[in-house]
Amino acid sequence: MSRLVYVLNGPNLNLLGKRQPHIYGHETLADVEEACRARAAELDLTLRFHQSNREYEIIDWIHEARETAAGIVINPAAFTHTSVAILDALNTFEGPILEVHISNVHKREAFRHHSYVSTVATGVIAGFGTQGYLLALQRVARLLNEGAPGHG
Ligand code: DQA
Repeated sequence: MSRLVYVLNGPNLNLLGKRQPHIYGHETLADVEEACRARAAELDLTLRFHQSNREYEIIDWIHEARETAAGIVINPAAFTHTSVAILDALNTFEGPILEVHISNVHKREAFRHHSYVSTVATGVIAGFGTQGYLLALQRVARLLNEGAPGHG
C-alpha cells in the first residue's frame, strides 16, 4: 500500500514569509516543506511537495496523485474560493484529502468563507498557522493506518 502523500500549494504561497506576515506569519514555504518532510519521516510517509501559481499545474498534480498517491494535503489558496476545476479533479481522487488554510478564513472577508474544496475534503484545518500542514499529515497517516482507501 502506497504511503505517498502529495502536499499541494496554490497561488502566492511561494511568497510565504514575505506576504502579509501579520496574517500568514514569517516562515517561508521552504521552512514549511522542511517541517513537513521531518514529520512525514516520523509518520513513515513519502512526500511530494509542490507549489504553483497556475491552476492547470495543480490539476495535473492531482491527476498524477490519482495514479500513485494515498493522500492529498492541499492549501489551494485563492483557488479555494473560485475553482470548480480543482474541485472536479479532487473528486476523482479516492484517498483522504485534507484542506489546509494557514489563516482562519472564517474570520476574514466573506468571499473567503466559501470553499469549493471543502465539499470534497475529508477534513479542513484553518487558522492553525503553518502547523496545520503537520496536523494534516498526522491525520492522513492515521487514516491510512486505519485502512482508508488509497492507491498503489
Ligand atoms: C489561504 C487563505 C486564502 O483565502 C488565501 O487566498 C490564501 C491563503 C490560507 O492559507 O490562509 O492565499 O489559503
